[in-house]
Amino acid sequence: MEKTVQLYEGKAKKVFATEQDDLVIVSYKDDATALDGLKKGTIAGKGAINNRMSNYLMQLLEKQGVKTHFVEELNDRETVVRKVSIVPLEVIVRNISAGSFAKRYGVAEGIVFDEPTIEFSYKNDELHDPLINSYHALALKLATKEEIATIKEMAFKVNEVLKEYFLTLGVKLVDFKLEFGRLADGTIVLADEISPDTCRFWDAKTNEKLDKDRFRRDMGGVEDAYKEMMHRVFG
Ligand code: TMP
Ligand code: ASP
Repeated sequence: MEKTVQLYEGKAKKVFATEQDDLVIVSYKDDATALDGLKKGTIAGKGAINNRMSNYLMQLLEKQGVKTHFVEELNDRETVVRKVSIVPLEVIVRNISAGSFAKRYGVAEGIVFDEPTIEFSYKNDELHDPLINSYHALALKLATKEEIATIKEMAFKVNEVLKEYFLTLGVKLVDFKLEFGRLADGTIVLADEISPDTCRFWDAKTNEKLDKDRFRRDMGGVEDAYKEMMHRVFG
């Protein structure tokens, strides 16, 4: 499978067309942004780590019956995925309070929820990805009622599978962001990536942060955190 023209360049990835109409190639960059793009940097080795980890997790999810865009890993940074039209929602599932949840509701980070939560943001950089509920998503015609129900069900399933998996690696899955896409026939599949960029991972014993929060919060040890997660997953 060969790249043809570049279709899109995002903050952390590029997307290329291929000779096959229904397949694209994603290329992961080391670039990192935070705070709505105000903070920019690079995290050496991140592209390869996110590519490999995301592909591994998508395959794990496929085995548990979650449909994803994953097709084939080409090399360290590049993967063939099914072409989708992205549903313009950031779907966030949380198991433990952290980040914007803790800030918005004035609670400490680290409170373990009795049940996971789900929330949606409208993917729109100009509006800074505002928080919306499923009625708003419907009103804005971002997805149909059926699609929203499917997305919620899939997101909670992803949480169950990944929460259990990461615990076996000594990692708490605090929260994460998913994106979903539509195939040409309308089927909803899990798209984008699952990586330390899009998840909060805390060491199960020490609560040490092993994710992009080290970059967002200028904590140092960013590359080491990504490498540590890579080692836990691949040994
Ligand atoms: P938040 O607490 O800042 O809302 O983030 C929740 C989760 O979503 C966290 O694991 C980081 C991830 N996330 C992204 O992947 N992209 C984003 O743009 C934001 C804001 C969060
Ligand atoms: N929303 C952030 C940004 O502006 C990304 C993040 O915090 O993960 O790039």
